[in-house]
Amino acid sequence: MARPCTSASGLVLFLSLCSIFVVDSTETKKPLIDAKVLNSKIQAKHTYKVGPEEEYKSIQAAIDAVPEGNSQWVVVHVRAGTYREQVVVPKNKQYIYLRGNGKGRTAIVYDECSDNNSESATFTVEANNFVAFGITFKNNAERGLPNLPRNQSVAAKVAGDKVAFYHCGFYSPHNTLFDNKGRHFYESCYIQGNIDFIFGRGQSLFQSCEIFVLPDGRNDILGSIAAHNRKSADDSSGFVFLNGKVYGVGEVYLGRANEAHSRIIFANTYFSKTISPLGWSNWSYSGHTGGLMIGEHDCHGPGSDLQNRAEWARQFSKEEVEPFLSIDFINGSEWLPAYY
Ligand SMILES: *[C@@H]1O[C@H](CO)[C@@H](O)[C@H](O)[C@H]1NC(C)=O
Ligand SMILES: *[C@@H]1O[C@H](CO)[C@@H](O)[C@H](O)[C@H]1NC(C)=O
Ligand SMILES: *[C@@H]1O[C@H](CO)[C@@H](O)[C@H](O)[C@H]1NC(C)=O
Ligand SMILES: *[C@@H]1O[C@H](CO)[C@@H](O)[C@H](O)[C@H]1NC(C)=O
Repeated sequence: MARPCTSASGLVLFLSLCSIFVVDSTETKKPLIDAKVLNSKIQAKHTYKVGPEEEYKSIQAAIDAVPEGNSQWVVVHVRAGTYREQVVVPKNKQYIYLRGNGKGRTAIVYDECSDNNSESATFTVEANNFVAFGITFKNNAERGLPNLPRNQSVAAKVAGDKVAFYHCGFYSPHNTLFDNKGRHFYESCYIQGNIDFIFGRGQSLFQSCEIFVLPDGRNDILGSIAAHNRKSADDSSGFVFLNGKVYGVGEVYLGRANEAHSRIIFANTYFSKTISPLGWSNWSYSGHTGGLMIGEHDCHGPGSDLQNRAEWARQFSKEEVEPFLSIDFINGSEWLPAYY
């Protein structure tokens, strides 16, 4: 016989179990974008396999084998392992789907540092129409540290249009992700660094990404997560961070103004205490603040208190941010192989 409900706490327990169940069932309904989904959407015509036992021993060798002017999707499948090389996907090698065995298992690692961001990059994509899944990009340069010349150590430079990364990792101490130009989508990625570690003039949506802040070697200036270079009011670029999580060690700013029209939006994101109460920095930018579009919308967590934010940083209304908070911001329904 069913035991009668005798206590208020029993009822609360019962209700909270119900709500756990409800949350779980909506979570599982959300389509997970994984390699299987991408494979079925992309329908590649050919696969180039990379690994110690495969036809291609390095990732660059496989990319070199893709014909110039390629116009149909091909897979470059990279078996688990660490590949020590600098990799470039040049402009004339479009429609490459770079697939790893998971960001904890397949990694491209190099250790170049330079005063030139492009030259330091472990991975560079210049081509349009590129997709990566389940792979880590890492710049391991010991000297890519603040307060030294040759301090740039880019893990990935993204300079093509219509480029998407799913479940990828980006690691470097400094200037990790050079989101140079073009429309980009980052889904469930992990990005780590300390100073200006997501920077450039891309038009990019970072959806459900995890951003981890490393301790900052400097004590005079705090680093910034994002530095964006939008140059004019009719420039469509911007960095939009949606539904993610920011945490780490030490104290940082969410971002900084780099040009008169810099655009950086964090929405529905969790901030740990690692975010400085001031939130944003105008370090090195001394111009007019009226054209900046930098701020937050509906973030949460211990670092999300808006009371002491920089006076020029914005607290966006739902209406203001709506056009930026979906793949429409990057015209994604026209070119993304998978999204939700
Ligand atoms: C940085 O390196 C790239 C690639 O080698 C080169 O095209 C560019 O001119 C360099 N930039 C500067 C400022 O030297
Ligand atoms: C990086 O190095 C340059 C010199 O090459 C220096 O002017 C600059 O201040 C350094 N930046 C940081 C953040 O340490
Ligand atoms: C930079 O931001 C600080 C803090 O909000 C503010 O006091 C200062 O006036 C700003 N500088 C410029 C040039 O806008
Ligand atoms: C992309 O989307 C924007 C905003 O919705 C729109 O103004 C623009 O025309 C679209 N671009 C293309 C090439 O469809």
